[in-house]
Amino acid sequence: MENPKRIAVIGTGYVGLVAGACFADWGHRVTCVDLDAGRIDLLNRGGIPIYEPGLAEVVERAVKAGNLSFTTKVADAVAGCDAAYIAVGTPPSKTDGEADLSFVFECARQIARVIRPGAVIVTKSTVPVGTGDIVERIVEDARPGEHIPVVSNPEFLREGSAINDFTNPDRVVIGTEDEGAKATLLAIYQPLKARGHAVVVTRRRSAELIKYASNAFLAAKITFINEMADLCEAVEADVADIALGVGLDSRIGPHFLHAGPGYGGSCFPKDTLALIRTAQEHGVSLRIVEETVQANSARKRRMAMKVRHVLHGNVEGKKIAILGLTFKADTDDMRDSPAIPMIELLQRSGAEIHAYDPQGEANAKTLFEDVTFHEDPYGCAAQADAVVFMTDWEVLKHLDLARLASIMESPVMIDLRRIYPPEAAARQGFVVETIGRLGSEPHPVDAYAPTFLAQDIAAGTHRG
Ligand code: UDX
Repeated sequence: MENPKRIAVIGTGYVGLVAGACFADWGHRVTCVDLDAGRIDLLNRGGIPIYEPGLAEVVERAVKAGNLSFTTKVADAVAGCDAAYIAVGTPPSKTDGEADLSFVFECARQIARVIRPGAVIVTKSTVPVGTGDIVERIVEDARPGEHIPVVSNPEFLREGSAINDFTNPDRVVIGTEDEGAKATLLAIYQPLKARGHAVVVTRRRSAELIKYASNAFLAAKITFINEMADLCEAVEADVADIALGVGLDSRIGPHFLHAGPGYGGSCFPKDTLALIRTAQEHGVSLRIVEETVQANSARKRRMAMKVRHVLHGNVEGKKIAILGLTFKADTDDMRDSPAIPMIELLQRSGAEIHAYDPQGEANAKTLFEDVTFHEDPYGCAAQADAVVFMTDWEVLKHLDLARLASIMESPVMIDLRRIYPPEAAARQGFVVETIGRLGSEPHPVDAYAPTFLAQDIAAGTHRG
């Protein structure tokens, strides 16, 4: 590469590790840092601490090329670098759902101590508007009178398709008012610019807000189609056809119109709440985002009603097999997964829960009590009174339905990802409940009695 940069990336989570590995794969010289010695040790031994398809290959290639290394020492990585990336977590704070920025600020302090003048600090963690200003003040306090620009460079990758998203982004967003910093960032992303990817250079605050606005819009888009799914069930329409017909309008677009059990994950739930907070602090009300959060939360809980409904209103003592636990396929991430309220509510109603997930078991085990985990979907469904599809993992798309039906106590399927056409499943003996269209057994429109939901919200025992 023409103009390789020396880059330090602090934080080896989804964003930091993927960004570091891809930068190095493009030819930059990258050092990834994490304070977790076990994690760094694993990376140095060729292991990958997260499940992300394709990441291991990129890391291996970049390490072999001599462009990627790992350390626990911020100072070693940052001294001499051209750009120090902050890619540490911003978990929701325990008290009020606001993003907890303490890791970001601590990271900024550590970088500020050692970074050379002229190098830039780049925030890749998703941080509320104005955080760049605070980071800048931290740096100025540590290095009075020196010029060390702070840039916002938000990341839009999705878990499960992170490598492809990072290397083929719809756009790169760079937020800085500093010409030198702009040149450094443009050099870092030169390989993408050369391939024609859009690069948006804007004010730092605008860059910070673009990330939240994008996530909130996508969350609202999913919530919109989920509401259409409810309506489709009532009027005997099919939400997949609605999504197709609506999505072909180029002003709307076909993506993120797949109706499901409600969005989860590490970003949408947290970022929508953080955006509402930011707006409130500035006296602005974001009614669409607020409604999105509430509707999604209620939806996740309401999904348990579908299970209860199809089991004639009573799950007491019933064995229910949950297939797929993570918030979506191709990740081991359980954060804000719709499976969490599903399992909690069914357990509270007396159900016996069995579960299977190709990658999420270890994380799921930390969340649930009294759940029996299985190595494969058939073992999970054996003697069950119902199977519930929570995520559309590839392996779950190709089940032998006749076999599945034959080993269950009663072949009842609640397909919350619309994996199987209800007619096809019914032909194998299943009673099917799905979303966004009628299942094999039409149900009355008011089947999901709202009282269950009200009680649950009043109990307020889980996140949503
Ligand atoms: C999201 C954003 O897409 C990404 O740009 C940002 O950087 C981080 O947050 P991620 O959380 O990894 O990425 O997953 P994503 O694929 O966007 O899915 C989020 C949730 O929405 C999942 O629960 C998924 O099942 C749900 N979803 C998504 C739907 O229910 N329907 C859809 O059509 C799309």
